[in-house]
Amino acid sequence: MLAIGVARTRFQRNDKPNAAARHDLGAASAHLTFEATARGLAVHQMIGIVPDRARELYAIPDHSEALTGLAIGYAADPSQAPEPYGSRDEAPRTRKPLEEFVFLGRYASNANPFA
Ligand SMILES: Cc1cc2nc3c(=O)[nH]c(=O)nc-3n(C[C@H](O)[C@H](O)[C@H](O)COP(=O)(O)O)c2cc1C
Repeated sequence: MLAIGVARTRFQRNDKPNAAARHDLGAASAHLTFEATARGLAVHQMIGIVPDRARELYAIPDHSEALTGLAIGYAADPSQAPEPYGSRDEAPRTRKPLEEFVFLGRYASNANPFA
């Protein structure tokens, strides 16, 4: 299934801007991903969509904006995927150390919040 992630940027009750709209879509997408993964599905989120085309195709109103695509399905055998996707899928995942993006006091300060 190919889904579009849409953020409602203005509140339904008073039409005022919702500063948390994009954050909320991200949180919702993350939770959808956890739930789908727990059910044996795979989710691939993509920012590489054309929002104006999505608005046109799906008649998305002005109070909302399309931000992401989500491909949801059962993962295939990576050895059957064309390169570079097969080896990318099989590569071990690495995580950035927290010290590189969690700061104490000032952004990008050297103070270690974990010390
Ligand atoms: C908000 C968001 C947008 C993304 N946009 C794209 C995208 O446009 N194209 C793409 O190939 N991967 C995109 N990614 C990355 C993939 O969804 C995925 O997280 C990444 O390939 C890592 O895959 P893994 O979960 O198998 O390690 C995006 C991820 C996020 C969270």
